[in-house]
Amino acid sequence: MMSSQRPNMWFDRGGVLYDSWYGVLGKEAPKETHPAYPKAGKQKGATTWRCKECHGWDYKGASGVYGKGGRYTGITGIRNMTYASEKAIVATLKDKTHRLGGLIPDKDLQALAHFVAHGQIDVDIYIDRPTKKVKGDPARGERIYQTTCSRCHGSDGKQINFRTAENPEYIGTVANENPWEMLHKIRMGQPGVPMISMLAFDVQDHVNILAYSQSLPQK
Ligand code: HEC
Ligand code: HEC
Repeated sequence: MMSSQRPNMWFDRGGVLYDSWYGVLGKEAPKETHPAYPKAGKQKGATTWRCKECHGWDYKGASGVYGKGGRYTGITGIRNMTYASEKAIVATLKDKTHRLGGLIPDKDLQALAHFVAHGQIDVDIYIDRPTKKVKGDPARGERIYQTTCSRCHGSDGKQINFRTAENPEYIGTVANENPWEMLHKIRMGQPGVPMISMLAFDVQDHVNILAYSQSLPQK
């Protein structure tokens, strides 16, 4: 297949792997809690193997949104590794802390390293942490949303329900509750499904889509 031959030149592959590498690889997630996940942490099992669970949707770990609450781990973010050597990052992912060698193929460890070194951004520039307000232009975001996202998510963002019928979650819900997660997914795509990555557009347009999505119905 052509797609499997695509070089790791773009960092959306690493970005979706950061979200859920086992979801991308179509693998059974490890059942036991990750050995590096702190005992006092509130999560357990598969999710503790996701990069985002320890390092955050905002890539800032304990100094970011996961600095308090049910996702707190006290673990550092990955922001300091911007422009770091990708070889050194791959070595980190295979180290005694991460233990990902063998679980993730080398090519995908390289894709992850490429994302860490070149794909992550400083989200605090675009999202005000206390209010979750987004510094974007909803009118520009609407143009992109309604011609791309709407094909799968509907013009009101409610075509796919991410949760249950009793407790639904739509585009508008995620955009308002977790704008950092939404920004990551707008840029990289969603693991394990054919959702597109918007990396062909500039970051400001990703933010514009997010700003528009915050105006969509939450229920
Ligand atoms: C169970 C928790 C956990 C998970 C899951 C996890 N890490 Fe880490 N990560 C850590 C810990 C702990 C450190 C070491 C932090 C320290 O030195 O205090 C670390 C350090 C790092 C560093 C170096 C940061 C620095 O500034 O030195 C990078 C890069 C990194 N992790 C990337 C990733 C990536 C990519 C993934 C997903 C494939 C991942 N991590 C998954 C716990 C985790
Ligand atoms: C080709 C179809 C397709 C397109 C285009 C698409 N998505 Fe998705 N998206 C999906 C599917 C399928 C899911 C997974 C749904 C699930 O897990 O229930 C998803 C999941 C998501 C999620 C994850 C919600 C969660 O909590 O897990 C967000 C956020 C999202 N999409 C936003 C967008 C935005 C914004 C756009 C436009 C930039 C977009 N999507 C374009 C198909 C698409």
